[in-house]
Formats: sequence, C-alpha cells, structure tokens
Amino acid sequence: MSGFAADLLQGKTFLVTGASSGIGAAAAREIAAVGARVIVSGRDSERLQGLIAQLPARDHMCAPLALENPDRVADWCTELALKEQGLDGIFHAAGMELIRPVRLTKETQLQRMLQSSLYAAFGLARAAASKGVMKESGASLVFMSSVAGLRGQSGMTAYSAVKAGIDGLVRSLAVELARQRIRVNSIAAGAVRTEMHNRLLKVLGADAIADYEDRHLLGFGEPGDIASAAVYLLSELSRWVTGTTWVVDGGYTLR
Ligand SMILES: NC(=O)c1ccc[n+]([C@@H]2O[C@H](COP(=O)([O-])OP(=O)(O)OC[C@H]3O[C@@H](n4cnc5c(N)ncnc54)[C@H](OP(=O)(O)O)[C@@H]3O)[C@@H](O)[C@H]2O)c1
Repeated sequence: MSGFAADLLQGKTFLVTGASSGIGAAAAREIAAVGARVIVSGRDSERLQGLIAQLPARDHMCAPLALENPDRVADWCTELALKEQGLDGIFHAAGMELIRPVRLTKETQLQRMLQSSLYAAFGLARAAASKGVMKESGASLVFMSSVAGLRGQSGMTAYSAVKAGIDGLVRSLAVELARQRIRVNSIAAGAVRTEMHNRLLKVLGADAIADYEDRHLLGFGEPGDIASAAVYLLSELSRWVTGTTWVVDGGYTLR
C-alpha cells in the first residue's frame, strides 16, 4: 500500500492509458484505491475488463482504443470526457519499446513508437485544452517519460527521441494550460519490472543485465513505485508542481 489517505482522490475521475499492463495497470489500481473512478484504456479489452473486476466497485469504465492518430485521440478523449462532465486528470502510460541500431530502424517502427507515446500525448493535450474536457476547478496531466530521454544508450535512439519529445511537450503545455488551472508533468522512469522490461532483458546477456541493474543504485523498480509518483502528481498534494520531469529511477541517472 502507498500510504496515501484512502480518500485522497475521492469523487474524482481519471483517464489512464496503457492500463492493460505494467505501470498503467498499477496506477489504475492505486488511483482507485484512494477513492477515484478510473476510465481505463489500452488495446486489449479482455485485460482491461479483468483489471476493472479487481478494483473496488465504483462504476469504473473500460474505453479501449489503439493509439494511432492524434486527431482521433483528441476526438475520442473529448467525447469521453464531455460525457463524464469533465475529467480531473489523465495519466498517459501507453507506450512501446524499441531496441535497434539507428541504421536498422525503419520509418514504420518509428511511427508506431510515436503513435503510442508522443502523438497520443499530443492528442490528449489537444483534448485537455478544449472547454469542458478537464474540470474547471483544476486538473492534472501526467505523461510517462523515461530516463532514456535524458541519457544516451546505444540502440535507443528512437525511444530516447520520443521520450525527450514528451518532456518538451510537457514544458510548453504547462505554460499554455496554466490559466485553465491544468498542471502538466512527466515521470522519467528508470527500469521498472513490467512486460516491457522483460522484453528488453531478453536481448541482454546475464552480465549485461547485472550491470544494468547495478547502475540502478536501488535496483530495478516495481510498477507501484511509479504508480505512487503518478498519484502524487494527479492529486492536490502537488498543487504547486507543473512543467517538471520528475526522475524516478532508483538512482540510475546519478552516475
Ligand atoms: N518498464 C520500464 O522499465 C519503463 C521505463 C521507463 C519508461 N517506461 C514507460 O512507461 C510506460 C508504460 O510501460 P510498461 O513498462 O508498463 O509497458 P507495458 O507493460 O508493455 O505496457 C504498455 C501499455 O501500453 C499500451 N499500448 C502500447 N501501444 C499502444 C497503442 N498503440 N495503443 C494503445 N495502447 C498501447 C499497451 O496496451 P495493450 O497491451 O492493450 O495493447 C499496454 O497497456 C511506457 O510509456 C514506457 O515507455 C517504462
């Protein structure tokens, strides 16, 4: 358990993308555990329904969507939010990994990375800026970024570019939406044990994995470590925090 008050987000509604797996699923659980209603999104409806079945009953909703086109994401999010009389926040966790030397990276692979992460973030941002989509009393947008956007690593050129793009989007969007009382932040995570993480480890040998974990001074993280950071940024506890990229990486970027 996170230690947040059980009613921290009571009466509020949050959209969580990437909720069918890993960090997004953990965040949806944590948000629901502190009293809020969640609208969970991803492509795998069965996993989303399975997640909802485990949450404390509170009229949670499943809204599957393949994130491809920012205009479509903006329309989808706007329609969803207006039906709900506005959202209190969005946690955009959806994303995909790619480890590939730049000379072998094809445009289609770059496109898929952009679509699930940066284009979707842009579509959600456009929706959030429209009247009635976010609550006028105040709202929070939190986007998943990565330490890969801050540090170089071979084979991560496309992924790093996409995550650095998220951090850049956050800074200007925070300025643009401040007057609408919408705060905007990103979380730059280190390696967190999820399905994505397992896929990344598959291409590394035992020594490389040990070295990778060693560079995380506190070891690899758990999805709950990021979920707690997301709940803090979505809640009023962070009412004076906007435009930041919060590094939550077990000490990875220190050396
Ligand atoms: N795990 C890490 O070490 C780590 C570190 C730094 C940052 N991150 C970031 O944290 C976020 C979550 O990662 P994770 O580790 O939890 O990954 P994960 O377990 O692989 O989950 C990824 C989620 O994104 C969704 N998704 C992917 N492409 C999508 C698309 N085109 N349309 C709709 N949904 C899509 C997946 O939905 P479906 O399965 O339903 O398609 C799934 O719910 C990502 O943005 C990732 O880049 C992860």
